[in-house]
Amino acid sequence: MTDQVQQTQPAPSGGSVPRHIAIVMDGNGRWAEARGEPRHAGHRAGVGAVRSTVEECARLGVEVLTLFAFSSENWRRPAVEVSMLMDLFFSALQKEARRMNDNNIRLRIIGDRNAFSAKLQKRIAQTEAITADNTGLILQVAANYGGRWDITEAARRLAQQVQQGVLAPADIDADRLAAELSFADLPDPDLFIRTGGERRISNFMLWQSAYAELYFTDTLWPDFDQAALQAAVGDFAGRQRRFGLTGAQLQAEGRT
Ligand code: IPE
Ligand code: IPE
Ligand code: MG
Repeated sequence: MTDQVQQTQPAPSGGSVPRHIAIVMDGNGRWAEARGEPRHAGHRAGVGAVRSTVEECARLGVEVLTLFAFSSENWRRPAVEVSMLMDLFFSALQKEARRMNDNNIRLRIIGDRNAFSAKLQKRIAQTEAITADNTGLILQVAANYGGRWDITEAARRLAQQVQQGVLAPADIDADRLAAELSFADLPDPDLFIRTGGERRISNFMLWQSAYAELYFTDTLWPDFDQAALQAAVGDFAGRQRRFGLTGAQLQAEGRT
């Protein structure tokens, strides 16, 4: 079975530790505002939660962690907040590279990086290169990412292949499209966490999360500590993932 087939036709699985966790890190602004501090203080505090979450995922044996850091819609925020987020992203990449290497973590950035400054793009490429040979947790940071952007880009690439005559429209199926998406080489998220109390997806991995278990917590991102992650993973372990089958079918096959 290829990775692509696994993505679009997931097999029911037990396994109490998710292979791939995706997190919408929300609530930084409210965390700061509750303290009478400017919003960027919340974003800075959020970096600590990133660090502890990454390290706990590595310890638990999670294979892939994808963190939503900046959406394609977040450009609509006040210019000063956007610019502070870019500065924070740049300095976090610089500061955390060594720590990621020490922890055998491989960093990948997903999203449209062309919109970033040349300096930031260079820093992203350098950090990815520095950690490229690591073999532990794959840390994906979604920056200028949107689920609709991802699917649109995939559709464009398929259209180009059709135009070049290397692909027939009739051959386009879910697996073909999935293969053109970001991180097509990795498993889909098993557990999708959103902090900060909102119960929405906000254009995160729309296609890839089709069968993710959703977990919403009121905890604001800067307060999301290792115990909070363990609670989410514990909740996940109690879910029955049916992928369209019945509970009785899973039981008959001994997969519960
Ligand atoms: C999430 O926190 C971080 C980003 C979107 C960059 P927010 O900044 O959205 O925090 P709230 O939702 O306003 O509290
Ligand atoms: C989603 O949070 C994006 C990130 C966490 C990066 P938002 O705070 O931007 O989402 P909405 O606007 O509340 O839906
Ligand atoms: Mg928010």
